[in-house]
Amino acid sequence: MNLNTKKIFQKAENGRYAIPQLNVSSADQMKAVVKAAEKLRSPIMFGTSEGESGFLGMEQAVVLANFYEKKTGLPVILNADHTKSLEKVKQYLDAGYNSIHFDGSLLPYEENLELTKKAVKMCREVSEDISVEGELGQIGGTGSSKVFEEKIEIKDEYLTDPKQALEFVETTGVDRLGVSIGNMHGISKVAMPKLDMQRLSELQETLKGKCVLVLHGASGIPDEDVKKSVELGIRKINVNTELRVVFSSAIKEKLEEGEITPYKFIAPAQEKMQKVVEEKMLICGSNGKA
Ligand code: G3H
Ligand code: 13P
Ligand code: ZN
Repeated sequence: MNLNTKKIFQKAENGRYAIPQLNVSSADQMKAVVKAAEKLRSPIMFGTSEGESGFLGMEQAVVLANFYEKKTGLPVILNADHTKSLEKVKQYLDAGYNSIHFDGSLLPYEENLELTKKAVKMCREVSEDISVEGELGQIGGTGSSKVFEEKIEIKDEYLTDPKQALEFVETTGVDRLGVSIGNMHGISKVAMPKLDMQRLSELQETLKGKCVLVLHGASGIPDEDVKKSVELGIRKINVNTELRVVFSSAIKEKLEEGEITPYKFIAPAQEKMQKVVEEKMLICGSNGKA
């Protein structure tokens, strides 16, 4: 990937749209994302959690991302989502990822600050084109992208404090910040938490021009609320669970019909996933921005 990933977000800021980060577990899912992006001429941003990159292979993910960048001519960002250790940051950088999300949000504040600062330094030493995301505040849920039967509690103390966020961004030098504004990872079947738009406005006001604001856990959030968050300054939206749900339920349906040929049970899942990705690109307004 031959791209200054920071410039892609600068363009999004100027145009007041967001780029969806689509999490993928497999090459099949990457293809579904690419088809959506090609159709809508949107920049591509893949995300892989530690579990996803462990399964797919970091180097394989990079090879595929490079391949699709060349094949489509679209900008491709490959983000190491929720990286929890500096050892893993090094592995992602060695493999060739062009975007790193270091997530120290569950650590004590000072530790998060120190480790994120080190992660930024490691990335800058490799290339100024690599963008780095930090995270401050606790996002609801268990950290996994799954469907919950129960309601997920979001405590006030989870929410990102704007003043602390400013100090965090200025001290660490991150390019992007994942914020907690009532969002959760995964989907609750009972009730999705409401986003705190007032807090988002305050974060935007405080961090304007200093970093890109990221909304994790976009699955299950009503489209109108996602659009509102983009109006209020969110420039990256992370989506995983909705893609997992549509992909796996389409496969399940075919398997239950007795289908055993992988290209026959995976292809419909890719088509359905592609549609969801297209919807997310349209909601974010990244269509036509490649
Ligand atoms: O943001 C959370 C990630 O999408 C979680 O992925 O369920 O593979 O740990 P995971
Ligand atoms: P969801 O699984 O809730 O869409 O969250 C994805 C995410 O935040 C990836 O970092
Ligand atoms: Zn996330």
